[in-house]
Amino acid sequence: MAEQRARGLFITLEGGEGSGKSTQVKRLGARLDAAGHEVVLTREPGGSPGAEVIRELLVTGDPDRWDGMTEALLMFAARRDHVQRVIKPALGGGKIVISDRFADSSMAYQGYGHGLGRETIEQLYVTTLGDFRPDLTFIFDLPVDEGLKRANARGSNRFEGMDVAFHHRLRDGFLYIAKLEPERCHIIDASGTEDQVEDRLSAIVLKAIEAGNA
Ligand code: TMP
Repeated sequence: MAEQRARGLFITLEGGEGSGKSTQVKRLGARLDAAGHEVVLTREPGGSPGAEVIRELLVTGDPDRWDGMTEALLMFAARRDHVQRVIKPALGGGKIVISDRFADSSMAYQGYGHGLGRETIEQLYVTTLGDFRPDLTFIFDLPVDEGLKRANARGSNRFEGMDVAFHHRLRDGFLYIAKLEPERCHIIDASGTEDQVEDRLSAIVLKAIEAGNA
């Protein structure tokens, strides 16, 4: 059993549609679990009972069901509940929490994709979450057409129906976020096999855990 951490570790996986991060959340969780860590796997939007109800409103229906601002408010309402009821208690118990998406998705999708802008998303963030931040974030990067091809093959949600220009804005947005916060954010090349991507991801996570600086 690995030593219990005084405060857990909060890891988020981010990226566009079809980038394979949901598979990698499970693979990383299994690796860390096998190494003796207590791991909590979760996702956004959702992750707590209340936030899952809000998720249903967000991922179903027509692409124009909500405008960008309403969508952002729903995302942050869900996120606040998720953080308060699931993430913070788990971190307080020394666990490693791995979330399939978190607030960088709001910056990329609503901030850049829908054009709400950085400042609006930052204001919503501070109002709902204060200075709470992930310790480590992985941005799964893939050319837009490849991601959409993969996503369409597995069935689509509301966001996959947005136009291709939207998906280009969000890919550029994610890359810009990584550039602004290089300490927290690592870009993962999401091309190749699932095993190759897992190796790229877990190498960085294990190094950060060993160094004790994440
Ligand atoms: P997913 O479970 O397939 O990742 O679907 C969730 C969708 O919600 C995905 O298309 C991205 C979108 N999303 C946002 O637009 N903003 C957010 O803040 C989050 C967490 C997700």
